[in-house]
Amino acid sequence: MAEVGGSASKATATDGANQYGILFEPVRIGPVTAPNRFYQVPHCTGLGWLRPHMQAELRGVKAEGGWGVVNTEYCSIHPSSDDLPYPSASLWDDGDIKAHALMTERVHEHGALAGVELWHGGERSANLYTREVSIDVASLPNSAGNPCQSRAMDKSDIRDLRRWHRDAALRARQAGFDIVYVYATHGYTLSHFLSPVTNTRSDEYGGSLENRTRLLRELIEETREAVGDTVAVAVRLSVDDGGGGDGIPVEGYGRDTLELLAELPDLWDLNIADYSYEMGVSRFVKEGALEDYMAFAKSVTTKPVVTVGRFTSPDAMVSQVRRGIVDLIGAARPSIADPFLPAKIREGRLDDIRECIGCNICFTGDGKGVPIRCTQDPTMGEEWRRGWHPEKIAPKGSDDSVLVVGAGPAGLEAARALGQRGYSVTLAEAGRELGGRVTQESALPGLSEWARVRDYRVQQIEKMPNVAIYRESALTADDVLAFRADHVVIATGARWRADGFGRYNMEPLAGLGPPERLFTPDDIMAGRLPEGRVVLFDDDHYYMGGVIAEKLAASGARLTLVTPEDKVSAWGVYTVEQIRTQCRLIELGVEIVTAHGLEACDGGEAVLRCVYTGRERRVAADALYPFVVANPAIAGKLTPSASSSSSSTPLD
Ligand SMILES: Cc1cc2nc3c(=O)[nH]c(=O)nc-3n(C[C@H](O)[C@H](O)[C@H](O)COP(=O)(O)O)c2cc1C
Ligand code: SF4
Repeated sequence: MAEVGGSASKATATDGANQYGILFEPVRIGPVTAPNRFYQVPHCTGLGWLRPHMQAELRGVKAEGGWGVVNTEYCSIHPSSDDLPYPSASLWDDGDIKAHALMTERVHEHGALAGVELWHGGERSANLYTREVSIDVASLPNSAGNPCQSRAMDKSDIRDLRRWHRDAALRARQAGFDIVYVYATHGYTLSHFLSPVTNTRSDEYGGSLENRTRLLRELIEETREAVGDTVAVAVRLSVDDGGGGDGIPVEGYGRDTLELLAELPDLWDLNIADYSYEMGVSRFVKEGALEDYMAFAKSVTTKPVVTVGRFTSPDAMVSQVRRGIVDLIGAARPSIADPFLPAKIREGRLDDIRECIGCNICFTGDGKGVPIRCTQDPTMGEEWRRGWHPEKIAPKGSDDSVLVVGAGPAGLEAARALGQRGYSVTLAEAGRELGGRVTQESALPGLSEWARVRDYRVQQIEKMPNVAIYRESALTADDVLAFRADHVVIATGARWRADGFGRYNMEPLAGLGPPERLFTPDDIMAGRLPEGRVVLFDDDHYYMGGVIAEKLAASGARLTLVTPEDKVSAWGVYTVEQIRTQCRLIELGVEIVTAHGLEACDGGEAVLRCVYTGRERRVAADALYPFVVANPAIAGKLTPSASSSSSSTPLD
């Protein structure tokens, strides 16, 4: 058992004892014991109370993969904290217990602990489903953008909240949870009580630190009193007050709260004020980025500490524990990209780890109110509905052969999965490099970790004697037919268009300048860069426009980015990178023109039109005007042949 608060004891990993043995030591958390240090922190799935079977199976697979603690997402304690259309978990009444019991049973089957993050959203919950009035420490505007505000809680509201929390904790115990959270961060009710900015109360819950922490203290004590003999009480807290810039902690009431309540809960789950840094995309935030914020924590509490940092490297994890930064390795995204990450480390199969690439596609389900998906792990979220498993797949149903044409991410994954099933697979790639768009895009600013999509798959395929890779093998349709494979998978990718077609222009633009003045992301990635003044028209709205703009601006282009949206890379709000993208471009001196469509570019100036007023605007330009159009891609094609025909039966 690890001595929390002191130096970690000798490794006790049972099987495959190796230099990572320290990660497999059990850790005591109050009345319960985590079997190892792998701790899946609370994270949403877009499943919540709406899809309990999917939820249970997803969490069960993580426990199967070796995570010692598996938590729910945020779990509402009362209808005054309703987040629809974003499906949270809930423990509003006894009817919710059964759904959670599905999950705890699946988690316990594999010897892991199950935790639940009790949550009250305050002003952030608009209660669009329940129609309850939001309540919070004060009357605060809804920060999720809805035109409403909270009512300031009076004493009876506070008593109600304490009762709801206690009742939810009791239900959590009945559902079989081993850890119950008091959730005091991320801009919800409890964090508003803690903050001297939002807490403007003049009663015993406002003013001094002691008063502002009163409700948190009460909830910890009451949760312990309700369930604490068999269930651990955890607190999720921000130890940084925010505003210091990336990697620069601002110590204040966050640290003071931790110091004041240091020994009260059984576990501290610590994070920071800036969500876009805590959960930053790899383009802006690298592994272990919170260390400077957390370095002090274990000096002020003897309770186990967990924090996050998109940890996928076992060496980084061991280092965090050995240097006394944390007791448990917290992970949301690494556990999504590879639910079997702990098992692979334990078995010394480091090559098999499917490392998170930090794209945050998993988080977009939250913002869209739909089930989670992951770029690296296609099975994530489909464990119950389709019976998919991240490590196991049905064996082949025949001795058929398969030809996969194209070794981009889709072709690589098809070859990997078919190879794992035991089929005889030939993977043909036109170029020398494998990875297709992932290889190209990973060379763009900040995106190097995206190459992990390729690397994981190539590593797996290279171990498979039944998968043969042929590079520099461009195939025509006749070549494909002549190959006489039983099945053919076409994965030849796509190209960006240069004709202006997109969301704004639903048909190609006639008035675009000469081809030598037109550039697409494919050109830029191939090293064909424009010079002089550049207008980049981004009608894609995700990362590509912003990243290309960054590359061009950094290479000295005088750049104007035009988008029909109201902000740059607008879809990036769902991956929590939009603000950072816009900030980066402003700092690089890019001129940004929002809410304008592109109508023409004659090689001298670009003609734009305001999407609201229809007014024309011309962007001052040099005589020759290079141009980048980032528009939706069209599917690539095999070189056709007059004699081509195809017939194929579905693969069993
Ligand atoms: C898809 C997703 C959903 C999340 N939902 C929650 C949540 O419900 N409650 C919470 O406290 N944090 C939530 N988080 C934040 C994570 O707990 C964690 O702090 C963050 O992802 C950084 O950890 P990581 O680098 O290991 O991913 C979520 C993160 C992700 C990726
Ligand atoms: S979607 Fe992207 S960020 Fe999320 S877990 Fe998968 S690889 Fe990581």
